[in-house]
Amino acid sequence: MKETRTQFATRLGVIATTVGSAVGLGNIWRFPYEAGVHGGGAFLLIDLFFIFIIGVPVVCAEFIIGRHTGSNIRGAFRALAPGRQWGLVSYIGLCASVMILSFYSVVAGWTMHYTVKSIGGFSGVTTPEALHAQFDAFASSDIAPTAWTLIFLAVNYLILSRGVQKGIERMSNILMPMLFVILLLFTVNSLMMPGASDGLKFLFTPNFSEITPSVVLGAMGQAFFTLSLGLGCLITYSSYFKRETPLLRTSLITAGLDTLVAILAGIIIFPAVFTFGQEPATGPKLVFEVLPSIFANMGGGAIWSTLFFLLLFLASLTSTISMAEITIAYFEEEFGMKRKKATAISIAVSMVLGTLCALSFGSLGGVKLFGMTLFNLFDYTSSNILLPIGGMIISLFVGWVLDRSIVRGELLAGGGRITGWGVSTVVFCLRWLAPVCIGLVFVYGLNIF
Ligand code: TRP
Repeated sequence: MKETRTQFATRLGVIATTVGSAVGLGNIWRFPYEAGVHGGGAFLLIDLFFIFIIGVPVVCAEFIIGRHTGSNIRGAFRALAPGRQWGLVSYIGLCASVMILSFYSVVAGWTMHYTVKSIGGFSGVTTPEALHAQFDAFASSDIAPTAWTLIFLAVNYLILSRGVQKGIERMSNILMPMLFVILLLFTVNSLMMPGASDGLKFLFTPNFSEITPSVVLGAMGQAFFTLSLGLGCLITYSSYFKRETPLLRTSLITAGLDTLVAILAGIIIFPAVFTFGQEPATGPKLVFEVLPSIFANMGGGAIWSTLFFLLLFLASLTSTISMAEITIAYFEEEFGMKRKKATAISIAVSMVLGTLCALSFGSLGGVKLFGMTLFNLFDYTSSNILLPIGGMIISLFVGWVLDRSIVRGELLAGGGRITGWGVSTVVFCLRWLAPVCIGLVFVYGLNIF
């Protein structure tokens, strides 16, 4: 009953949209704050392990499911495993994507606020302490952060309701290259700061005594989050891939560029943290309290900072679009809704939850579930629990249940120089390595026994 489905138009489009989904606040906001909380170098090392050894094969698994079925996540599992319980993973994906979109939009709203604020040079405030206080006052002020969250979600609606190729692809093609260039510029600037060597030492020297189960759990969650992995986002995107797209190569390029951006963000943030005497373990506000100090101390700071926050806002947008696309494709294809209606419902739900998350830095700060504010609860549960569970089910499914000829066929299609040996390695990771590692991290990290 499906008409010919839309596809990404070009090879660059495939990479730009997939990298556009992966690169976002996860790299520039979440990676530095998680690394800061979890001791820097040790966290980075484990994060890299999870990205390349566990993440890349699971990305391939999502690609295989998505391109083979050309369907939304519910439809994909129905086609591949009719009448079996595997499809339940799609509901985890749908719930988690709404949760992530909600808290993510709050932070994206902060980037919009700071884009505007930068134009005025942060109202003339320049000392790190005062800039810090300025951000705190803003984040806890209820109305402004909520308004920005809603504006951000409204922008998502405008782009998403126009459809896949026109909205998503065109935007990503321009934005992603621009973001790289500006990050490189700031990297050079940070390397010249007095705190550079302390910052780099913090980020790159793993102190093995700091590796605890919760560091490992955090790093695994970060790896899944930054790769947009585990809730079918990549199943949905790869359903728009062409037959010729080489899957393993696309997943490696995505993981490589994504990691590069996170490391650059770390090199930008940590030298500044040590230069301005800030605390690395600040948590979600870290980047927003540190970055303005960097800009305030640069020549032409107002211009740089406007450009930076603008690009960060746009990078967030290419990521949230990919999250929302999961539920939109689901409503469209499973319930035959029109694109506009499907988009409106998805965005409206996130507007309600997003408002609650925005308020959890202000009036709702005292409302705690399991000792966490709503914002932190959404962030923690979705990344550290739901995404890895989703990833585990997806890798077990592709490793054990899916017909091997489908797996081979999809991985070998489009060339990309993958051999039979490469296919076997991916399958081995999906059957054993990924499920066992994720399972172990759960048992220890969540202290199940
Ligand atoms: N990877 C994105 C980032 O790092 C966030 C993201 C987009 C995401 N789509 C997702 C996270 C799906 C989890 C699942 O900013």
